[in-house]
Amino acid sequence: MLRNIIDITDLTVEEIDQLIATAEDILANPAKYQDACAHKQLATLFFEPSTRTRLSFESAMLALGGSVLGFSEAASSSTAKGETVGDTVHTVSCYADIIAMRHPKEGAPYAAAQFSEVPIINAGDGGHNHPTQTLTDLLTIHREKGRLDNFTIGFCGDLKFGRTVHSLVNALSRYENIRFVLISPAELKLPRYVKEEALKKRGIPYEQTESLEEVMPKLDILYMTRVQKERFFNEEDYLRLKDSYILTPEKLAEAKPDLSILHPLPRVNEISVAVDKDPRAAYWKQVKNGKFIRMALILKLLNIPTFS
Ligand code: NCD
Repeated sequence: MLRNIIDITDLTVEEIDQLIATAEDILANPAKYQDACAHKQLATLFFEPSTRTRLSFESAMLALGGSVLGFSEAASSSTAKGETVGDTVHTVSCYADIIAMRHPKEGAPYAAAQFSEVPIINAGDGGHNHPTQTLTDLLTIHREKGRLDNFTIGFCGDLKFGRTVHSLVNALSRYENIRFVLISPAELKLPRYVKEEALKKRGIPYEQTESLEEVMPKLDILYMTRVQKERFFNEEDYLRLKDSYILTPEKLAEAKPDLSILHPLPRVNEISVAVDKDPRAAYWKQVKNGKFIRMALILKLLNIPTFS
């Protein structure tokens, strides 16, 4: 059966745990997997800018012995001539075995999947979802903490437009005893539909605050995010809100010694470079993990047996 990953809940918790186990096995024994996708092709269709997501997908497929094709901006595809996303994806599905697609419009990968003959992976749709960043985040939390339950996580920054936040809240709401602390300016709060679907429906308590300092001592994980400039309707609002939170070594003085600091990246200025040296900074490890969990996902969607 054709499987698409449009939303993180397209995967069960058991499947996510299995993907993490596969990623761990690939990390430990990369040579075992080096020809697993021989003669298979991944297409990356990026209608929006990307560094990590696109290149980690490509690097993942190359490390599995497969090959890659695609485009990294809409302007270099037939979109510029007026072709619909559905026709573009239908075309590419005639050439590739699997497609990773990023698009500025919410829901575009879901719509495109109706025209595809091969699995579609949502690599980010507007301010909506980003399920493979969530897999990256979950692998990172698992590696840092040794578990995916029983912790307090603070999400800080642009919780309104941050699609990585929406998908990660959704994913973690299915694990036991996660305490959610939502830290943002009033204008950038987590959207009501995410709170309803992920938290309220499941009866999961959460706390909302504007002060990072106040909640810092109780956090086990701090998930920092960039204010999503490209999603604002006017520049004035962006300029007013862009410096709402800047994490510095001084602000970490009150944090737990075993805090893990995550960020999907790219960062603008919300984490000072001085924090990179702090052993609690896990965001560069997170970048690396993104490749291995995407390797595991490609194997799963192509129905290629793994060894874990
Ligand atoms: C994120 C995204 O594209 O949503 N980046 C990523 O994929 N690692 C976060 C962001 O752009 O701020």
